[in-house]
Amino acid sequence: MPDTPAPTVAPAEGKLGILNVGLGAVTTTLIAGVELAKRGLGEPVGSLTQMGTIRLGKRTDDNVPLIKDFVPLAALEDIVFGAWDPYKADAYEAAVNAGVLDRHEHLAPIEDALRAIKPMPAAFDGAYVKRLEPENVMADTSKRGMLEQIRKDIRSFREEHGCARLVMIWSGSTEVYIEPGAAHASLDAFEAAIDAEDPSIAPSMLYAYAALLEGVPYANGAPNLAVDTSALRTLAEQQGVAISGKDYKTGQTLLKTVLAPMLKARMLGLNGWYSTNILGNRDGEVLDDPENFKTKETSKLGVLEDVLEPERFPQLYGDVYHKVRINYYPPRGDAKEGWDNIDLFGWLGYPMQMKVDFLCRDSILAAPLALDLCLFMDLAQRAGMGGIQEWLSFYYKSPQVAPGLYPEHDLFIQLTKLKNTLRWMMGEEVITHLGQDYAEDELAGIS
Ligand SMILES: NC(=O)c1ccc[n+]([C@@H]2O[C@H](COP(=O)([O-])OP(=O)(O)OC[C@H]3O[C@@H](n4cnc5c(N)ncnc54)[C@H](O)[C@@H]3O)[C@@H](O)[C@H]2O)c1
Repeated sequence: MPDTPAPTVAPAEGKLGILNVGLGAVTTTLIAGVELAKRGLGEPVGSLTQMGTIRLGKRTDDNVPLIKDFVPLAALEDIVFGAWDPYKADAYEAAVNAGVLDRHEHLAPIEDALRAIKPMPAAFDGAYVKRLEPENVMADTSKRGMLEQIRKDIRSFREEHGCARLVMIWSGSTEVYIEPGAAHASLDAFEAAIDAEDPSIAPSMLYAYAALLEGVPYANGAPNLAVDTSALRTLAEQQGVAISGKDYKTGQTLLKTVLAPMLKARMLGLNGWYSTNILGNRDGEVLDDPENFKTKETSKLGVLEDVLEPERFPQLYGDVYHKVRINYYPPRGDAKEGWDNIDLFGWLGYPMQMKVDFLCRDSILAAPLALDLCLFMDLAQRAGMGGIQEWLSFYYKSPQVAPGLYPEHDLFIQLTKLKNTLRWMMGEEVITHLGQDYAEDELAGIS
């Protein structure tokens, strides 16, 4: 990347519209958090764009600005939110229903701002998301009709709110599992499949396609295929529109992509990894359906194999039993419990165990990721970086990469890649951590 000339990044002038597909737990927690932060009533904890720093130059230079002061990101004050959802509840009611944030402390002070966000009727089809009872769907539910309506909604939102730029982010439910097939192989096939009401065209693909046709970057917080098909990837590249996905990396997989690289770094072996989750929010209810769970399971299972490379290290990782379960348990609501039992082995094959019990909060972990993704996708678009934004792998369980490449899952390699991309974008030197130059400076009596 350093050999590629740095792009020119257009300034973040005017309003940024964030179009959320889904006005559920993650989206309402995101919106409420931004509204509270804007008023000085809450801290955006967990957001790299708001709280993170970036080192420039050498360690001895002591030049470590905040990321938001280094790259031109949209200010929180300039964000306007919109959403589609098959339920009619406005953002305030939806946030109350989600039960993530305290109604008195965190929702009451921003009630007016939340009530003003009323969901647009959704491009929804019950065949892809089971267990919901839709009450707010588009009038024309043909695939072509929904595609055209999403495009109209995008344009009306842009005009009505005077947005200079838009970003679309999917925080809607996880759809049933779909394999990439003939309908996704080319744009012609994709277009024909829309007209033929082909079941391999899911609503998430229609949102993604509409976004690309309208020049709006698309980030995918769920494991749905959506924009991750040959047809839409190629279109994104041709149109110069930024895309990224899939599936926010928040709880258990976040831990997995820290612990598994640690095992591999130390050449410790692994016999088995059993992961189970107890969660009781609407996401958990949708994922309780086997077809919807399969999409999530595929996203969660891929991580270990990619990190551990069993074909390269058969003695250490050639026979790993990896199991992932999600159990819908309503009393827990959004406060998820993620259990991991890890059977590892060390020197001469002696077995050991590690147990992790992460009592986390799903949407509290996901909201700052959604914010960062929107701000970085907008930045990428202003930098003219179309196509897959692999540098945003940091945020995803199944990072979208160009065909033929394997995804990078190690959280700290992902962070290095992200920060080096920001340095490159701004014409700063990337940091290799080689460190030889410090020794040279010392020899020359400079430091
Ligand atoms: N930690 C996390 O919370 C986390 C982590 C990774 C991925 N995710 C994914 O993010 C998504 C959102 O999670 P959540 O907890 O907010 O779920 P949620 O069930 O609270 O919200 C999802 C919303 O999407 C709506 N929806 C479904 N189909 C839609 C469509 N076609 N168009 C518009 N809206 C639609 C639903 O009505 C619901 O309100 C899920 O797919 C989840 O798997 C969440």
